[in-house]
Amino acid sequence: MSRMLLWEAVSVQDFLLMLSNFGEDTLLDQSNEASPRLILQNASFSWPSGIKALDQCSFSIPGPGIWMLVGSNGSGKSTLFRIISGMLELDSGSIYCTFKPALMFQNPDHQLLLPSCSSDVMMSIPQNLPLQSKRKKIRSVLNQVGLPQMESRPIHTLSGGQKQRLALAGALASEANLLLLDEPTALLDPDSQKIVLDTVKTLCQRSQKPISALWITHRLEELAFADGAAIMEEGRVGQWESSQLLRKRIKPLAGW
Ligand SMILES: Nc1ncnc2c1ncn2[C@@H]1O[C@H](COP(=O)(O)OP(=O)(O)OP(=O)(O)O)[C@@H](O)[C@H]1O
Ligand SMILES: [Mg+2]
Repeated sequence: MSRMLLWEAVSVQDFLLMLSNFGEDTLLDQSNEASPRLILQNASFSWPSGIKALDQCSFSIPGPGIWMLVGSNGSGKSTLFRIISGMLELDSGSIYCTFKPALMFQNPDHQLLLPSCSSDVMMSIPQNLPLQSKRKKIRSVLNQVGLPQMESRPIHTLSGGQKQRLALAGALASEANLLLLDEPTALLDPDSQKIVLDTVKTLCQRSQKPISALWITHRLEELAFADGAAIMEEGRVGQWESSQLLRKRIKPLAGW
């Protein structure tokens, strides 16, 4: 098992060389060393109960954008996010990640901890910044997620969609550049769902510091916002494909 992260001085070429030394094929283009990368190769993970949640899973993020994962209950999607975020270690296989990931849950109440918008975002800002810079950063990230001048708003007065966008602001404040969104709109009404989707899309498409997003969904209409989508089945991620085509293909199975 190997895990290589951004603080390790390993280039993508070195990682590919290491894999080829083990006789493993890779699914990568090697063209852009400068962009952040996430590559899993033959990644396997079992829970202590013996349940195999990831089974020789190989995939990479093709580039900036929103990449959506669909799959039936128990296919391993949330476990995969825990592996990428570093909460769990692989049993075997490799992960190479030069992104800084931030995990976002279905229910924002599980990750918003402090009473006001600014105090909550403050927790995600590097501690060594001067107070003035911290305040500027809070203003900036709240603007980026469409919550301008909300610094002193008590969190309990926010709508569900506003809470999700505040969680996004926290991720941006921490300098994360890969959002791991685990059914982030499952508890939202259609209007709030659309605003969260639009917000993430804008962050992924902006010219300065675009971010990438891996987004788990059971709501097939959300695939319209994706740059590509893949099915996760029995612990493996399939090929990325056009989200429109994938949606048509899986619509008959839409019990997800
Ligand atoms: N903490 C845990 N301890 C033991 N087994 C777990 C744990 N979390 C998940 N599993 C098991 O691992 C497998 C994959 O679960 P996971 O939560 O990753 O699936 P999922 O694709 O996210 O499903 P869903 O669509 O229902 O959210 C399932 O069989 C599940 O029961
Ligand atoms: Mg899940």
